[in-house]
Amino acid sequence: MDVFNLEGKVAIVTGASKGIGEVIARGFAKAGAKVAVSSRKQESVDRVAQGIQEAGGEALALQAHMGVPDQVAALVSQTLGRWGRVDIAVNNAGTNPHFGPLLTADEGQLEKILDVNLKGTFRLCKQVVPLMEDQGGGKIINITSVAGIRPGPGMGAYSISKAGVIMLTKVLAGELGSSNIQVNAIAPGLIKTKFSQVLWENEDLLKHQVGVTPLGRIGIPEDVLGAALFLASSASDWVTGTVLVVDGGSMVAAGL
Ligand SMILES: NC(=O)c1ccc[n+]([C@@H]2O[C@H](COP(=O)([O-])OP(=O)(O)OC[C@H]3O[C@@H](n4cnc5c(N)ncnc54)[C@H](OP(=O)(O)O)[C@@H]3O)[C@@H](O)[C@H]2O)c1
Repeated sequence: MDVFNLEGKVAIVTGASKGIGEVIARGFAKAGAKVAVSSRKQESVDRVAQGIQEAGGEALALQAHMGVPDQVAALVSQTLGRWGRVDIAVNNAGTNPHFGPLLTADEGQLEKILDVNLKGTFRLCKQVVPLMEDQGGGKIINITSVAGIRPGPGMGAYSISKAGVIMLTKVLAGELGSSNIQVNAIAPGLIKTKFSQVLWENEDLLKHQVGVTPLGRIGIPEDVLGAALFLASSASDWVTGTVLVVDGGSMVAAGL
């Protein structure tokens, strides 16, 4: 459908070497966008970009660590150098090096989680917004988590970082609306990826999670694509500052 068409658009997707980011990058390319596929590992993004090209799409593989400001700036300038514009930015790269009660996290772990998840999102927004303003608009999609809405057990520091991403989304939505830049977030529930392996590999945890999910299963990365396409396309032109929960209904069961 035209309303979801991304022909002529240029997108940057961080954390696109696997999991949710890879599916979003491939899906955006299928919808017609030119996609800068980014993560810390060049060979991993090369593989995804090659797959997109083999499927007839346009992609550029760019190494960038979201914790390193110069690399984030280079990601944007290289995308601009190739395609001359940036219409869509997906802040998807995320990390969680600490599990356990919040106060057992050390300063370094807390710093790393905030640096990549929250400050990394800030960094990319800071780079792309002036371009979007010059172009007359743009779309920013921040991948937060249901853990940013209610605390994820044993994931306190991560939950704080994702709550910060939600507030960053709302702040920027308010500030950038007059520039026709829509800023929205997606809050996935448990999705089967490498990142969450420690959760879904635990049989008791998996059983509990499926039990409190009205739609009766945990998610797969493809479950997030429709929400991302909606927020990247003209279908969402009058939507900003929202958090789209994609969780099989598990938030409904909060407190069960
Ligand atoms: N899976 C879930 O249950 C779930 C639920 C809610 C929210 N999320 C969020 O969804 C996003 C994607 O997670 P996922 O589950 O798809 O995980 P994943 O499959 O492990 O993918 C994570 C991606 O982030 C990249 N990455 C990690 N640290 C990075 C950094 N410092 N700079 C740049 N790229 C980095 C990884 O690539 P390299 O290793 O090549 O850098 C990879 O491409 C994250 O923000 C996560 O918090 C996940």
